[in-house]
Amino acid sequence: MSIGTLPESPIPMLSSISACRAWRQDAFDQKKTVGLVPTMGALHDGHLSLVRRSLHENDLTVVSIFVNPAQFAPHEDLGTYPRTLPGDLEQLTRQQVTVSHDVRTPSAVFLPGIQDMYPSGIHQDVALQKGTFVEVKGYSHQMEGASRPHFFRGVATIVTKLFNVVQPTNAYFGQKDIQQALLLRRMCRDLLLPHPDPDHLHIIPTKRDPLDGLALSSRNAYLSAEERSVANTLYKALQAAESEWTAGKAKDASIRAAEDLAAGAVKEAVVRGIEMRLDYIEMNNANTFEVLDGQSQRQPVGGEPVVLSGAVWVGKTRLIDNIVLG
Ligand code: PAF
Repeated sequence: MSIGTLPESPIPMLSSISACRAWRQDAFDQKKTVGLVPTMGALHDGHLSLVRRSLHENDLTVVSIFVNPAQFAPHEDLGTYPRTLPGDLEQLTRQQVTVSHDVRTPSAVFLPGIQDMYPSGIHQDVALQKGTFVEVKGYSHQMEGASRPHFFRGVATIVTKLFNVVQPTNAYFGQKDIQQALLLRRMCRDLLLPHPDPDHLHIIPTKRDPLDGLALSSRNAYLSAEERSVANTLYKALQAAESEWTAGKAKDASIRAAEDLAAGAVKEAVVRGIEMRLDYIEMNNANTFEVLDGQSQRQPVGGEPVVLSGAVWVGKTRLIDNIVLG
């Protein structure tokens, strides 16, 4: 499928695999480090914080924009996912950092078409798919994977392809999608990918609305003003669980505190005519993704990190968030 006429931008746009490979080869020849920020567009300050981090740490930075059909189930929002390329390019143009007198701006935007990325074609229904896909077994069915069983297969597949084309020295992902980032690090290790080294896959803290703590997300654009006013419920619930956990309460009691807070907020929202429903809140071992036993408690320093994560439906929008404990 053609990606149509591209908007004007001072940043070079690489709209084919061959253009991107040639660009990367030049960077190899010049011994330049390359940072990759993979995105699906609809950029917000969370994405831009990854871009700025990459600008700081690499000679060159490439941002990929590709809405990946394989990570949406047939009933999900592929059709309505925000596509805002002109605005994305404008925001990227404004990103600039100075590193020892070297003024750095994004070096290129990689904009592949669907056929480029899926030469065997792509069907959103996994049962009908043909071709090669990447599955990170044992790490894709918990947490987000329990609600979206197709999701990580789609992500692992597209990110493998992006890594194969761009061969980044460093790659940058947001903590908001913590399971995605940890799973991709494992994937780099398992597939012995030369680029990036698993230790060069960086996870950057979640950017939040400074007023109410809502995690920035492209899907926040779906929220009406009323829905937006309650959308930070999940974060507040996670914070409630975090403070119980930090105070020494067991997992079950900590999660109950979060669920109680969310239940109160849902009741108030319903009175105001806003649909809201908690999907899940869970605590998982950050290394194995296994669900913590209900009686587990915070370990003294040196214990394994825990991911406290959850999802909430606000109207027709599903929002996710997490806090890393320890
Ligand atoms: O986090 C995202 O935006 C996407 O899952 C990613 C990593 C760009 C793959 O499509």
